[in-house]
Amino acid sequence: MPGELESLLKFEIPEIIFGRGSLKQLGHCSRRMGGDRVLLVTDPGIIATGWIDEAIAYLKQEDLKYVVYDNVVTNPRSFQVEQGALEYSRKECDVIVAIGGGSPMDTAKGIAILASNRGCIQDYVGCNLITEPIPPLICVPTTAGTGSDVSQFAIIANPGKMIKMTILSRAIMPDISLIDPRLLQTKSSEMIASTGMDALTHAIEAYVSSLSWSLTDPHASHAITLVFRHLKEAVYKKTLDPLEGMAVASLEAGAAFSNAILGAVHALAHPLGGRYDMHHGLANAILLPVVLKKNLEYAPEKYALIANAMGIDTRGKTSAEAAEQVPEQIEALIKALHIPTKLSQIGVRKEDIPCLARDAAEDLCMMTNPQKYGVAEIETMYQDAL
Ligand SMILES: [Fe+2]
Repeated sequence: MPGELESLLKFEIPEIIFGRGSLKQLGHCSRRMGGDRVLLVTDPGIIATGWIDEAIAYLKQEDLKYVVYDNVVTNPRSFQVEQGALEYSRKECDVIVAIGGGSPMDTAKGIAILASNRGCIQDYVGCNLITEPIPPLICVPTTAGTGSDVSQFAIIANPGKMIKMTILSRAIMPDISLIDPRLLQTKSSEMIASTGMDALTHAIEAYVSSLSWSLTDPHASHAITLVFRHLKEAVYKKTLDPLEGMAVASLEAGAAFSNAILGAVHALAHPLGGRYDMHHGLANAILLPVVLKKNLEYAPEKYALIANAMGIDTRGKTSAEAAEQVPEQIEALIKALHIPTKLSQIGVRKEDIPCLARDAAEDLCMMTNPQKYGVAEIETMYQDAL
């Protein structure tokens, strides 16, 4: 697997439909994917916003039948994927639509895998283990950050082992990403901040990844610029212009990381989701400055370019000096967003660090970090973030 990851450069994204009001296209998209009976994967919070009623109206306009599966929680569980797959086959569905944040979208990907490949979701954990094509999959994101709508990743929690499992396969790339920035307006400011920090982490990790290249770099760099331009206003005003800017940031960061993969921040964040059920974006936000300070020396030129993308004037500075501005600027952004800055604030215990570090060292995302860290170094990073 490491050999394959190191030698392969690619750029693959779904069909993208973007714009205010684009949810109207849902029925038509489902129909042209060959669908007749839609499994609509979402969560109770999204249902409460009214977006699902609107989506169903568009499905009905195309005379599509539908089944709603909404037993989805943050950090979706493997049994929920299995339950959804059972629903898909029992109700004889033929297309899957996910409406929600990363959790419904990753659940939908898991359901799609089992619908055509059978077995249990644990069988597909790792890189490119899916052999049968999945059913048509349309993703409609309601958060700006996860990038799951344009990525070939699915992250599913294994509650028995208290870990998050990473499935990476081009087979789970959605067919269509339908992005309607109106849907971002019903999220809380706290959620917009956390998911926005997830997008920023995707962009930075993709930009310095050992698999980054000419097709991923411009998207990663532009996503960083957009986050620094729009995130604060999106959080505090929740108006459509900055939210639309964040939707593009999430899209471009997603396109970059899906193809260049990620790094140590995600490797360290995944065990926190598995053990503490911590929100993924929040875990990233806390870990990002700590990991950056360790990473800078391994890719100073690239971090200097990230400083430029953030809007920092780096004229007259060496690459190392410009790079040092990056964690400082991120800490200032986090402070302005008023989100937690320490893992201990959200219940992480010192005695769990050795276990967390062992899981993080094995995470797929560590492979493409500018430097591969061992368990002892990872323990230090968790300590610094505690
Ligand atoms: Fe992420």
